[in-house]
Amino acid sequence: MRTAPFPIRFADNARWADLERLRAGSPMYDAVVDEVKGRQIRIGDRWLTDFASCNYLGFDLEPDIIAAIDDAVRQWGTHPSWSRLLGNPRLYVDIEDRLTELLGAEDTLVLPTITHIHMSVIPALVGRGWVFLDGQAHRTIYDGCIAARGLGATMRRFPTGDLDALAALLKAAPRGVTKLICLDGVNSMTGNMPDLQALAALARDHEAVVYIDDAHGFGVIGERSPDETSPYGTRGNSLVRHVGESYENIILVGGFSKAYSSLLAFVALPTRLKNHLKVAAAPYLYSGPSPTASLATVLAGFIVNDERGDQIRQSLYLKTARVLRATAELGLAVPNTSGLPIVEIPLRSAADIDAVGNYLFDAGIYVTLAAYPLVPRSEVGFRIQVTAANTDDEIADLCGVLADLAAQDRLQLVST
Ligand SMILES: Cc1ncc(COP(=O)(O)O)c(C=O)c1O
Repeated sequence: MRTAPFPIRFADNARWADLERLRAGSPMYDAVVDEVKGRQIRIGDRWLTDFASCNYLGFDLEPDIIAAIDDAVRQWGTHPSWSRLLGNPRLYVDIEDRLTELLGAEDTLVLPTITHIHMSVIPALVGRGWVFLDGQAHRTIYDGCIAARGLGATMRRFPTGDLDALAALLKAAPRGVTKLICLDGVNSMTGNMPDLQALAALARDHEAVVYIDDAHGFGVIGERSPDETSPYGTRGNSLVRHVGESYENIILVGGFSKAYSSLLAFVALPTRLKNHLKVAAAPYLYSGPSPTASLATVLAGFIVNDERGDQIRQSLYLKTARVLRATAELGLAVPNTSGLPIVEIPLRSAADIDAVGNYLFDAGIYVTLAAYPLVPRSEVGFRIQVTAANTDDEIADLCGVLADLAAQDRLQLVST
């Protein structure tokens, strides 16, 4: 059907050119996945090993979690379609109670996604105060801060990790206004963590609050213990507990859509703020809630986490360590210094991204191609995510393909 020209003009086309080229031409982008068997996925007639999944604990494939859905849906229907301000199935209370205990926080509020949280909670908390945004914060945090600015907040950006620059900006803010420092916990590209203890101390000195998004840490890292099965710590209760911090002047955001393989997200905060958000954060009033299947898989996930979580995290740690050992032996310039299961591999030349994507696809390795502007041009490459559900053979294949790409001189080396 012929259509008349549609009167929308896109601004800033050059910014999206690389992503658009990959979307239109690369088998690694905008793919239709026809079948899934463990971490093998079929795209058309090709089977690939999935190293792009955020299902770090393998809960998406866990029989006990899958089995929890049927009963819950029979009891509650497929979807509790009240606004949460009107009514909440008891599943919500159970989730918030268990989560609050797991995190050791004063209270928690769950909403469908982290994106909903950033877009609504950042503006609701900061009001006409000041928001301090990490220069490399996740796009969804950035969008939440822009929304806050649109509603009257003052926004300042600070270079990642530069606490002196942040301190100078904090000093410049007027007394008596809300000051919110927004950043990522475990970084979604590098796999590294910020110095939360130093940030929290700075925030407390300046009567500011750290608002931290640990989407990738929750479920993976947790409190340290003499009995821990790996350096990830125990219980998967996220960055604040991992570094032994309290929740004083810290608001933690996290989600179940990665390690817990479900669709729900949380903000951990004092009860007084939670009650305010119930009336001031739009999704609690105006958005549809998560489907029953998501609520059921979160609750079942807590049980598996209690019973076997630390064993699963140990397996995840060991598999990731194998990948990191291989990248170190090849001399690759991998930013990951944390040992967490997110391994970014920068290319020697950003212009090779299409060719490298095609090579990986043909070699049966499915990863996230990290094109500009997902990462700065100097870091264009691909991101590997390891999950506990990846087999040892799959890890061995991945290491072999990395060695092939290094032999083709496609990858950035430490010394270059
Ligand atoms: C750091 C970070 N924050 C937020 C999100 C978005 O989470 P959600 O899907 O719950 O909106 C992601 C997702 O990829 C992420 O990596």
